[in-house]
This record gives sequence, C-alpha cells and structure tokens, in this order.
Amino acid sequence: MRELRRAGAEVRVAMTPAAQEFVTPLLMQGLSGHAVLTDYFDTAQEARFGHLDLSRWADAFVVAPATADLIARIRAGIANDAVTTSLLAFRGPVLLAPAMNTAMWDNARTQENVKALLSETRYRKVGPGSGLLADGDVGAGRLAELGELVDAVAGLGGLGPLVGKRVLITAGPTREALDPVRFLSNPSTGKMGLALAAEARARGAEVTVVLGPVAEAPKDAITVVGVTTAEEMANAVLARVGESDLFIAAAAVSDFRPAHVEPQKVKKEGASAELALVRTRDVLREASALVHAASRRPVLVGFAAETEKVLEHARAKLERKQLDFIVANDVSQPGAGFGTDTNAVTIVPAAGTPVEAHGTKRDVAARILDVVAVALGGR
Ligand code: CTP
Repeated sequence: MRELRRAGAEVRVAMTPAAQEFVTPLLMQGLSGHAVLTDYFDTAQEARFGHLDLSRWADAFVVAPATADLIARIRAGIANDAVTTSLLAFRGPVLLAPAMNTAMWDNARTQENVKALLSETRYRKVGPGSGLLADGDVGAGRLAELGELVDAVAGLGGLGPLVGKRVLITAGPTREALDPVRFLSNPSTGKMGLALAAEARARGAEVTVVLGPVAEAPKDAITVVGVTTAEEMANAVLARVGESDLFIAAAAVSDFRPAHVEPQKVKKEGASAELALVRTRDVLREASALVHAASRRPVLVGFAAETEKVLEHARAKLERKQLDFIVANDVSQPGAGFGTDTNAVTIVPAAGTPVEAHGTKRDVAARILDVVAVALGGR
C-alpha cells in the first residue's frame, strides 16, 4: 500500500473475511486514506463506495495475497465476498500475488486454476517466491517481495505519472579490453541506474537501460541493451536518445581504453610494463550535443562521482555537457557510491536550488525522478 502510494498510485481496499482475521480494516483505511470495503451487504458501505463503484474506479486490481481458496473462487466466477464481487465486475488488468503453503501451491487443482486464469491476457501473476514459509515448510509459496510486487503492478501498463514518457538510462561500468582475458574497468555494479529504471517503470514510463556488464539482472518490463565498451554504449545511446523524453547517464564509463587490443593473451615474459591509452567517447556529451541540435530534446541528467570539491566539480560538468540536472555524489563517504545499497546525493539543477537526497538507492531514485519530473511536465 505505502509503496504504491509513494509511486503515485491511489489505492482502495476490499478485504475478504479471512483477510480481516489477519489485518484490521481500520489499519487498511488509515494506510489508504479511504474507507475499506468488507461487506457488500452493508448498506452504509455500499451507499458510500460499493463493490461496483470499486470495479469502475480501479485501473488495476491487485490480489495480494492470493490464497489457494481465493484463486479457486476467482477462477470459478464465484462472487461471495467484497473482493470476489468487485473482481467479477472488473474489466481491467488483474495481478495475482499467490501466497500459500507449498503443498497447496503444488496441488494440481491450484496449478490448474492459476493456469486457467493466466490464459486470459488481462490476468498476470507475480511470485510466489521460494524459501521458509510462515508455517515452517520450505518451498514455493512465499508472497512476492515488496519491490517485485510494485514493479509487477507497474508492468500491467497504462498506470502512473510517467505514462507515455520514454526514459533512457545508462548503467553499470564499461570494460575496455587489453587482450582476450584482461580489461580496464571500475567497481560500478549498476545498482543506481537500475534503481532509477525500476522507479521510472513503477511510475509508468517506458524504460530502456543501456547496461554495461553487471551481475544483477534487471526486472521484467524494462528493455535492456547489453553493452561492454564505451564505444558500444555510445552507439546504443546515440541511436535512441533522440526518441526519449528523459536521458539519465548513470553509467561509470571508462574514460580511457588501451590504444591497442592484443588479439592473443599477452605473456608476461617480454611484455611492456607501460600501457598506451587513448580517450574513449564521452557518451553523455555526445548525446547532449546531438539532441541540442534537434528541435525537440529530452531532459538531460548526468551523474558526477567525486571525491573532493563535489559541488564545484559537478556544476562544471553540468555546464560542460549542457545538462538540465547533475546528480553529485561524494563517493568517498561511507554508504555512498559504488556497489552499496544506499546513496547520498545532491541533485543540482541548471538553474535553481539544489536538493539533497539520501537513503536506499531506490529512495534516492524516487527523489531524483520527483525533481526531474517537474522539468518533464512541460514537454
Ligand atoms: N559519462 C559518459 N561517458 C564518458 C564519461 C562520462 O557518458 N565517457 C557520463 C557519466 O555517466 C556521468 C557523467 O558523464 O553521467 C560524468 O562522468 P565523469 O566521468 O564523472 O565526468 P567527466 O566529465 O568524464 O570528468 P572526470 O572523469 O574528469 O571527473
């Protein structure tokens, strides 16, 4: 509930009698800011905002947790509580987030019911995950992780404040080969860029990530263009940036590459101890120059990873690369920069007051998008 609201969604709740054994309607009312539908025979509830109002109002229906019983009833078209009556009258996309004991999940009835529902394109499923379950069993049946759930809701399409916007992001390091087994690179893991991608997606944007070599696989519903070198990243970005509404360069691109790539593995005996380097292409600078020459251009956001005079260096980069915003990042601080799950940044606009943001990379991504979305509005 909280994560969906943070991503800009308005949320209303219907609860089954079973759900009310675990969580009170009052709590869900507090969190959603709206009265909760628990009983469609309650004339007061129906008069205020009944099950048919809910079905007409919603853009998407999320069933979380989707128990074995609830899935069976939905599949059969039964309408005997606030959730199933609302759902039976609903015409839009439905996301099921199954959660139950492993044996119940594995049961042929449940599998058949899920399969039947998913054969309709408007039904989607997220999870269940595997692991230790509430009842002590180990196996499939865990409710999907919070982030996965929110991303899956966004993946239903047509929802959120960035619907219709195309967002292009570079993320991760690049690798510049010396020979077939060695390369120059940096410790970037792509986490910040991928957090931005997931957050933009959660807000309804169409997202493409030009991604250097990283371990973490990006989420569904995000287009990934895998690249290795700065040259490949530049080509991938220049082919797409003109079509985008927002370009965020979060990649840690190698500034230099070896002048020569040896076709065979270099042997240490007789090898030179010196390495001749040449500059790589500056992806962001080239992209900025290209779109500044066009009639319509995306909002341009760069990152500046610095260890000293952070704001001063960042502002210089913003001007040199003609950006709308630069996200300045003091990578010498603990809990900020390469490989961490948290970050602390200052979002510097070309004109106006800088905004500070810190927290998980996803929190920081949300703040960055809040700030830059204002510039996006007028386009
Ligand atoms: N960048 C890029 N391509 C490069 C180098 C940088 O797209 N070859 C982008 C980064 O993704 C980041 C911004 O430019 O958004 C700043 O990168 P950085 O390397 O810190 O800045 P430079 O201008 O290269 O300056 P320096 O390395 O001297 O600090």
